[in-house]
Amino acid sequence: MSSLFRKKSFDKLMEQSATKSLARSLSAFDLVLLGIGCVIGTGIFVITGTVAATTAGPALILSFILAAIACALAAFCYAEFSSSIPVSGSVYTYSYATLGEFLAFLIGWDLMLEYVIALSAVATGWSSYFQSLLAGFNLHLPALLTAAPGSASGGVFNLPAAAIILIITAIVSRGVKESTRFNNVIVLLKIAIILLFIIAGVGYVKPENWSPFMPFGIQGVITSAATVFFAYIGFDAVSNASEEVKNPQKAMPIGIIGALAVCTVLYIAVTLVLTGMVPYTKLNVADPVSFALKYVNQDSLAGIISVGAIIGITTVMLALLYAQVRLTFSMSRDGLLPKTFAKVHPKFKTPFQNTWLTGFIAAGIAGFIDLGTLAHLVNMGTLAAFMIISIAVIVLRKKHPNIKAAFRVPLVPFVPLLSAGLCLYLALSLPRVTWTAFVIWIAVGIIVYFLYSKKHSELNN
Ligand code: ALA
Repeated sequence: MSSLFRKKSFDKLMEQSATKSLARSLSAFDLVLLGIGCVIGTGIFVITGTVAATTAGPALILSFILAAIACALAAFCYAEFSSSIPVSGSVYTYSYATLGEFLAFLIGWDLMLEYVIALSAVATGWSSYFQSLLAGFNLHLPALLTAAPGSASGGVFNLPAAAIILIITAIVSRGVKESTRFNNVIVLLKIAIILLFIIAGVGYVKPENWSPFMPFGIQGVITSAATVFFAYIGFDAVSNASEEVKNPQKAMPIGIIGALAVCTVLYIAVTLVLTGMVPYTKLNVADPVSFALKYVNQDSLAGIISVGAIIGITTVMLALLYAQVRLTFSMSRDGLLPKTFAKVHPKFKTPFQNTWLTGFIAAGIAGFIDLGTLAHLVNMGTLAAFMIISIAVIVLRKKHPNIKAAFRVPLVPFVPLLSAGLCLYLALSLPRVTWTAFVIWIAVGIIVYFLYSKKHSELNN
């Protein structure tokens, strides 16, 4: 029984971090861009429109603000942890040092669900934009290869979604430096595209489009917040990169909070302009941002935005894969997953086999499951992780009062408790089927822990 609660010592973690085999090449600026690269994607470019039209109306801005508050509270907790324990593995590693092995494993297991499914979900959004761009040139894929089974188009496999994941996998598997530089350029381009939309669109805003402001009531705003929460997911992935960061104690909080702050400001501006340009009832489309520009007869700007969205969504996949591989790398190094996941390639210095295994699984999921189902599951997994990290901050302060952190959450335990409560509240707004799938995944995790991980844990030695 006591082995379930055995913890990694802080000294051991720091030592492990110091003798790590990954190269330290990332700066705080790289981290902010890595975070933004992981955050701005399918959520703002695809999901926004449907939610505005069907559950939020112009009050979508309130849903975005509510989701941002939940994320900001969790981001504080992430920032404190990553500046006290700067090792790879995110909330998983932090829990291993505070809550004990069993809970840490379950959290890692939960995060695997979050990252892999998010990778597949985002690729599905990418595929829609890609196909609509092809359609602009009058090119069409065979219907069978356009979407997952059950779609209106009669698809059996979403080929573009699966293919883009494998391309991203090839890039990430070849090394941090190369993919970071690639990421930075594209993220700056993505920010430019969003600013272009805001500046071009603001002149077409008609305040009467904001009325009625809350057609689906306050309940609609809350349900929508639980859905658009997807748009913020990814800033926590920054914490997985800490073993590859120069001066992590200082850089990690800047990376996490900076990325979230930039995204929040951009989202609020996009939401205001979008619902101001087009009556909300017309926004139930797959490409709302470029649709709004077409609506005001700015077709060439709409085309530029579409290409930008396709490129921009690509960096989300890059960062998610990066996060997933680092997470399973840590879990494997601790003996909780098979050793293959921690094997470093002699030439590229990356977990090469791990990266390709993850890529193939995500590509399969993206090929066969639809975006709506995937997005809700991702939100569920992420909200669960946010709740745990919030509680873990309270434990950290109680059990390790002397630990030095460059960033500290204000008003502990009030802020972490508020964070956990708000995440639970949003999770309760998700569909029942999402809860069922989540419970099954966690149950499988418990079985894996008792059949494999408990026996193979490094802490046995
Ligand atoms: N936040 C990410 C997106 O919107 C997952 O695509």
